Amino acid sequence: MKIKSATFTVSNSDHKLAPTDGRPEFAFIGRSNVGKSSLINMLTDVKKLAKTSSTPGKTQLINHFEINKEWYLVDLPGYGFAKASKTSRSQWEKFIAEYLLQRDTLMNIFVLIDSRIEPQQIDLEFMGWCGEKGLPFAIIFTKADKLNSSKIAQNVAHYKKELLKNWEELPPIFISSSESKKGREEVLEYVDEILKSFVIE
Ligand code: GTP
Ligand code: MG
Repeated sequence: MKIKSATFTVSNSDHKLAPTDGRPEFAFIGRSNVGKSSLINMLTDVKKLAKTSSTPGKTQLINHFEINKEWYLVDLPGYGFAKASKTSRSQWEKFIAEYLLQRDTLMNIFVLIDSRIEPQQIDLEFMGWCGEKGLPFAIIFTKADKLNSSKIAQNVAHYKKELLKNWEELPPIFISSSESKKGREEVLEYVDEILKSFVIE
């Protein structure tokens, strides 16, 4: 898929205030600092579209970016941010869970996982919750430029094994790097396939 335009639409803490034009959307979620905002910039090829930072906790709101005037990419705050207080964590859970559960136009959630680290309980739990709620998701392993390809293959194989302890089938899996643009075509192709199957009634 070609990205012809990518513009910021709106940020907010209440999904009810998100765009109501019925266009399909794809959300990016995962632990703080995993590279959600960077990936959005890489996919759209617009360097500073989503704000990134080396300090975890940068993205705090639900951010809609309109793509090709047809669909949205949604940047979400990260979870598992160690410094967050208990109150802000439960607020996070509430507003993100409401967004994920109530957003009718949400086509797919991309769960981002750092390709360098061992499977983390918080990510496995989040995916388990998506499964329980019937929310479709795909996994994107990030920061692949930081590892050689055999180490990536090893980590991904290990992750798959972990997932298969709880799942009968694996979700779609992508490997990406916002630095090298690895995975860009594959992720956009996947979005395109879903968009093509989306028919406005
Ligand atoms: P929060 O908004 O805090 O939840 O973080 P985020 O998941 O949006 O992460 P962000 O995109 O802001 O990136 C966090 C840090 O990781 C930044 O310093 C990025 O430059 C770096 N980073 C993100 N993706 C990559 C990647 O593919 N490769 C490398 N080498 N660094 C990356
Ligand atoms: Mg971010």
